[in-house]
Amino acid sequence: MDIIISEEFSSPAIDRLGTRFQILPDGALWKDPARLRGAVREARALLVRNQTQVTAELLAVAPKLVVVGRAGVGLDNIDVAAASKLGIVVIAPLSANATSVAELALGLMLGLARKIPDAARSTREGGWDRKSYTGVELDGKTLCICGLGRIGVLVAVRARAFGMRVVAFDPLIPPDSAVLQTTQATLCEKLESALAAADFVTVHLPLNAQTRRLFARKTFEAMKRGAFFVNTSRGGIVDEAALSEALRSGHLAGAALDVRETEPPGSPAELEKFANVILTPHIGAFTLEAQRRTLEAVADDLDRALSGAPTLNFVNFELPKRSLSPAT
Ligand code: MLT
Repeated sequence: MDIIISEEFSSPAIDRLGTRFQILPDGALWKDPARLRGAVREARALLVRNQTQVTAELLAVAPKLVVVGRAGVGLDNIDVAAASKLGIVVIAPLSANATSVAELALGLMLGLARKIPDAARSTREGGWDRKSYTGVELDGKTLCICGLGRIGVLVAVRARAFGMRVVAFDPLIPPDSAVLQTTQATLCEKLESALAAADFVTVHLPLNAQTRRLFARKTFEAMKRGAFFVNTSRGGIVDEAALSEALRSGHLAGAALDVRETEPPGSPAELEKFANVILTPHIGAFTLEAQRRTLEAVADDLDRALSGAPTLNFVNFELPKRSLSPAT
C-alpha cells in the first residue's frame, strides 16, 4: 500500500493521486489506534488532518513510511521529532489556510460585538427585540493578538482596517521585527500587559508545552473587565472551566471558540449554556479556497516525496532519509 488516509477527505487533488498510487482511504481510522497501527505497517505515506495522533509509537511500527502529510497547519498531533529521527519527511502547507482562519477570527469578533448569533436565533423564533441586541463597535477598540505568526499578521491587518488599535504578545518576535511595521502593532513583552490593554483578545498560537492551558484563571483575570475572548487556534490552550467561570462572574463580556479541549466536545458542557458564547466546530480552515489550496499542496508533495523529488512544504527535511523503494 502506498498511501493511508486516516481522516475524511474528498478532493480532486486526492483523486489525482489515486491514479498514480495505491490509496487506502478510511475516514474512521483515526478513531481506532489498533486498526491504524495495522494499516500503517505496510504504508509508504500517511495523510492526516488534526485527529490522527501520529505518535512515536505509531511511527515505530511503520518501517516503510517515508512521508506524513498533514492537511493543515497545527502540528500538535504529529511527533515531528520522532519522524525526523526515523528519516520520515513531514509536510504541512503552513500558509494555505491562514486567510480563512483570520477571516473567521474577525467574523467571531463581529459576532460577539453585535451579538449576531443570538439576535439571529431570537428573530428566527419570532422575536423582534432590538434593545437586547444593542452591541458595540470594533472601531476605536484595542485588540490583543496572542501569536503574531502567519495568521496573527492577517488578523492584525484586517483589524486595523476596522479602526482597531493592535497590541501583540509573541515571545518569538524581536522588538525590531518588520512584522510590527506591517501590522502597526505594539509588541508587549508580558502577556498580562497585552491582555490588560485589550477590549478583544484573539489567540493564534500553536499548542505545545509552553502554551497548554496558557489561558487559565489567572490569565482571564488579567483581561479587562468586559472584554471579549476569541480562540481559533487550539482548544488545549484554554482551560474551559476557567473560561466558564470568567463568563459566569461577568468578568468577560463574551467568548467565541472554534476549537475545544476535546473535539468533538461530547455531552454539552458549561460553555454551551451561555448566550454570549459562540461555539463553532473547528471550521477555521473549512472554506472552499483553503481546502483546495491545502489539499493540492499536500497531494503534490506526497507525489513528490514518493517519487523521490524534493517536497515544497516540508517542516523537517525536504526529502525522506529512508529508502524510497515501493512497498512490496
Ligand atoms: C489547522 O491546524 O490547519 C486547522 O486547525 C485545521 C485542522 O487542524 O485541520
